[in-house]
Amino acid sequence: MAVTYNESTKIFTLQTAETTYQMMVGRYDILQHLYYGKRVDGSTMEYLLWGTDVGFSGNPYEAEGDRTFSLDTQPQEYPSQGVGDYRTSCLEVVNPDGSMAADFRYVSHEITKGAYTITGMPAVYDEEGNNSLGNNSLGSTTLSILLKDASTGLELVLKYGVFEKEDVITRAAELRNSTEGTVSLEKMLSVCLDMPFGKWDMIHFHGRHAMERQTERTPLCHGTVSFGSKRGTSSHHHNPSLLLCTPQTTEDAGDCYGMTFVYSGNFIAGAEVEQMGQTRVFMGIHPESFCFRLAPGDTFETPQVIMSYSDKGFTDLSHKFHKIIRDHICRGKYKYARRPVLINNWEATYFDFNEEKILKIASQAAELGIEMLVLDDGWFGKRNGDCSGLGDWFVNPDKLPEGLSGLSEKINAMGMKFGLWFEPEMISEDSELYRAHPDWALRIPGRKPNRSRFQLVLDMSRRDVRDYLFERMSDILSNARIDYVKWDMNRSMCDIYSAALPAERQGEVYHRCILGVYELLERLTSAFPDLMIEGCSGGGGRFDAAMLYYSPQIWCSDDTDAVERLEIQYGTSFLYPIGTVGSHVSACPNHQTGRITPFHTRGVVAMAGSFGYELDLNTLPQNEKEEVKKQVSDYKKYYELIHQGAYYRLNGAGAFHGQEFVAWSFVSEDKKQALVNLVITHTRANSKPVFIKLKGLDAAAVYRLEDGRCLSGSALMNAGICIPSASGEYRAVQFELNAQ
Ligand code: GLA
Repeated sequence: MAVTYNESTKIFTLQTAETTYQMMVGRYDILQHLYYGKRVDGSTMEYLLWGTDVGFSGNPYEAEGDRTFSLDTQPQEYPSQGVGDYRTSCLEVVNPDGSMAADFRYVSHEITKGAYTITGMPAVYDEEGNNSLGNNSLGSTTLSILLKDASTGLELVLKYGVFEKEDVITRAAELRNSTEGTVSLEKMLSVCLDMPFGKWDMIHFHGRHAMERQTERTPLCHGTVSFGSKRGTSSHHHNPSLLLCTPQTTEDAGDCYGMTFVYSGNFIAGAEVEQMGQTRVFMGIHPESFCFRLAPGDTFETPQVIMSYSDKGFTDLSHKFHKIIRDHICRGKYKYARRPVLINNWEATYFDFNEEKILKIASQAAELGIEMLVLDDGWFGKRNGDCSGLGDWFVNPDKLPEGLSGLSEKINAMGMKFGLWFEPEMISEDSELYRAHPDWALRIPGRKPNRSRFQLVLDMSRRDVRDYLFERMSDILSNARIDYVKWDMNRSMCDIYSAALPAERQGEVYHRCILGVYELLERLTSAFPDLMIEGCSGGGGRFDAAMLYYSPQIWCSDDTDAVERLEIQYGTSFLYPIGTVGSHVSACPNHQTGRITPFHTRGVVAMAGSFGYELDLNTLPQNEKEEVKKQVSDYKKYYELIHQGAYYRLNGAGAFHGQEFVAWSFVSEDKKQALVNLVITHTRANSKPVFIKLKGLDAAAVYRLEDGRCLSGSALMNAGICIPSASGEYRAVQFELNAQ
């Protein structure tokens, strides 16, 4: 049984293949956390609870003369404010009487088969039998625990999704206002994880535009280490994910926990080490600029957090996240179907194109085996630069005299699919839409709004705004053959104020906007089930599990430099499956960095993702055109291996600190085939040979290398291999191994 409750000990045990999560209805019906980590059988962990009289840590009234039990020191499942726990709380409310406290005690619970859903938000789903590969036969269990504050009547439901085979536990919470007055909800996180002892490092993924998901490993210290986003998107600046590990943990060994937020808006995440050396990890919606009014009978649901644990280091933990996201977050036709190799015109033309130019790019691409042309920004309204046109989703006849249907027909006639760029959530002041509906933009009355890339943000909390976007997008998608949409979002949000909401509801706007984005995406994906959406926010500014629910791949970064991409894709790979990473070969010198890299290297790096091109192929010399043909056919050949295989970071943790190369591999599920990749990042005179140890092979099998050598899996993994001819600036090596 994945979830059990022992009536006499009052202990909940959540078991997955390799982990155990335990909690207990403890003294005074307080829900206490007992354990999360490597699987334990045959014992319950209430013996880990301790209690001493800790000065300045008070005691619940019921404890009477016992000064050893304090909410300030006991591990808890979902701590709230105002009742004696001075650590980071999950919940802050202002009650109808103005008091700011919530004291939740256990009432009842329910164990049900299948995954829970969250109203209006993505969540890990349990879709038995819907996997063409036939490896998706899980069957998860949900535990819902009802708690209540006896003095106000406020009710809290904690939800746990247990995915046994995947070693994943999901968490979310729901607050019900069962009081008689209005409650103001000022903070509501999704998860708290109390660890009673241990020295921990935290790894998180920070960055900036065109430099997303840089890894940073920090030892925790007393106090709080936290990060988050207040930009209205999950952001380039901090990915909504964290890892917690021991100082000794490496790629291949050691304890590590992972958490990722299934949400695309503001978030906060972090860890607090408190007075007794205990660690509290937390994640949820950022409480700043957040305030929800709950009338009697109203509920508020938090987004979900996906958690997993491994005692075998980061690679194993990554594999667990890759599987759950690939198989139980990503949806739709292109979840498993091979996605077309695409060419995008952005870096080839920017705004300066017409039908003739696009067709020239497309016909050269078709000749070289590329399968889809994506028309990027600039095809609509008066969009000849980034100052105007957003919101006017009508084709520009000066650029495309035969419209999108004319263009797509010509591209289809070349044997290619056609894709189109949209930035639905935005509005330019210089647009027909803004002139007609200035109140559709987020703006604070009486203030000049903050501009970013000269654009304002549409108020996605409004139904009329979403209806307009749905009408425009579905009209375009129905009147031309469009197989793919690149859904962009190119600024951080600001000036948070909705003209459609009363003053007391303005604290809801950030969250309501994200719910609006999900609602529109849901409507479109239901109306156009065969459409493939690629997410984007100035590259990877909204690379999160929630967006992956609607778009199985996300443009990973606006930085297309192959060397920079190594680090961006490395950080992304800790939580997200490789197939979710949109990655293209672009022109050199690279438009973002000016760096020159070999064409082959650009191909090898872009193949660690959903592959495509972003340049004018007509400008390439013949030998590079031949290389395009080979890359496209190699990518098709290795598609299953890259998208469904196990991904290995071969450098070891900290690949970007003092190493001269970056290496990674893909190994098929049956371990019969592997693809090894390596890029030299620092060329030296008189260079040393490069040795790497391969991973994930069958130790007993014998593998044939492309050069004809036959070596055992154990030799390749334990003794390693010298990489042939790896010298030269930014040279790449890619080779295949096949078990005999
Ligand atoms: C963003 C995207 C780019 C491109 C431009 C168009 O920056 O990340 O790929 O689509 O917008 O304006």
